[in-house]
Amino acid sequence: MITAIVGCKWGDEGKGKVASYYAKDAQLVLRTTGGNNAGHTVIYNGKTLPLHLVPGGITYPQTTCIIGPGVVIDPAVLLDEIQMLKEYNIPDFDERLKISGRAHVIFPYHKDLDELHEKLKKHPVGTTKRGIGPTYSDKDNRIGIRIYDLLLEETQLREKIEEATILHNQNFANNGMADCVVDPAMLAHQYHEYGERLRQYITDINPIIANALDNDDKIVVEGAQAFRLDIDHGDYPMCTSSNCSTSGALCGGALPPNSSIEVIGIDKAYNSRVGNGPFPTKQSGSVADTIRELGHEYGTTTKRPRDCGWYDCCISNSAKHILGVNYLCINHLDTIGLIGKKLGYIKICVSYNYQGKVIDYYPDDISLTGEVPTPIYEVLSGGWEIDSSCKTYEQLPELAKKFIRIIEKSSHIPVKFLGTGPANDDLIIREDI
Ligand code: IMP
Repeated sequence: MITAIVGCKWGDEGKGKVASYYAKDAQLVLRTTGGNNAGHTVIYNGKTLPLHLVPGGITYPQTTCIIGPGVVIDPAVLLDEIQMLKEYNIPDFDERLKISGRAHVIFPYHKDLDELHEKLKKHPVGTTKRGIGPTYSDKDNRIGIRIYDLLLEETQLREKIEEATILHNQNFANNGMADCVVDPAMLAHQYHEYGERLRQYITDINPIIANALDNDDKIVVEGAQAFRLDIDHGDYPMCTSSNCSTSGALCGGALPPNSSIEVIGIDKAYNSRVGNGPFPTKQSGSVADTIRELGHEYGTTTKRPRDCGWYDCCISNSAKHILGVNYLCINHLDTIGLIGKKLGYIKICVSYNYQGKVIDYYPDDISLTGEVPTPIYEVLSGGWEIDSSCKTYEQLPELAKKFIRIIEKSSHIPVKFLGTGPANDDLIIREDI
């Protein structure tokens, strides 16, 4: 059985907590899309470990953890992460981490190109500048360099880099970035050395996956980014460059689409976004400030303050159909209660006014109409506090249960998980669902 953990909005929903719950007794855990634009923290022996590439499931000693072919890898970042995890004495680390040789490599010139593209755009995306988009573009253009290529002879790697960077170098030279023009020999030397250091982890992942599927093992896909950032189904062009929703997450891990699978959509009790693009329930002024401060809404990867707004059921409803979400996890149920107490009310977007009609899904054509849907809200008076003794749904304050019922009714998805605090076990699981 595969459990896919996917973000329902614009990322940063707190996927790690539910991923960790499922990884506890899983055999295989995978990261399958994106790169070090993602950031999540896992708790290990009371220490918080910031991870960008290695699946958080690595902290459970029975797991095999795969970085799949759909991921783009900055080897320097990955090597730092590996070193950090080894310093924390994660058991059998070297035997349990597997990197697909088919994953693509992020080079410094991809980060420079990310910078250049953003600079030349009238409406920049607000990328993380980690070189994610240019690496996927090179992959699609078939000039990408794969992790396998780092294991070639240095001269062969150099030839590949030379060929891949002909046009990139012209672009740097013509756009005031001559200092970014690539020296293939220098890069080949450095990245060949990275390859040697990563060699023991690099492998063909397909037999491992085939074996896990044959044994009916528990497989967890740790999604990165989220529904509205998906290149095909999100807010194009204000999105990332991978298919980070369920189908793409399966493909990026070489997991067959006819597997038996359950999809857990992760969400927060309010919504947030970094970077530019539409955000129908976005708030400003003191409401946004209150949500940001109480939710600590600053980027894990970039530290940027996030835009903040109310919970949007229409997007969740669309996620149900496009991502196949079976169950929701609503994180920050404690935070929204405090927000309600401070502001005196909580809003939930239950439908939109769009093009003169009331709809309950996220429309596909807003870049054409130029109209961001206008939220229609249900409003709850006041808020709540959740104390540490509250461990079941029944024990939650009545108003918090009403909040959840509104989300279930308007998004048409059962809420099975409730995040009630920052720790991994601040998670209420509704066994009856
Ligand atoms: P890129 O993925 O760096 O190209 O950035 C494209 C857009 O996706 C930007 O708006 C980023 O802020 C956003 N983004 C990428 N990864 C994440 C993530 O893990 N969490 C939240 N936003 C992200």
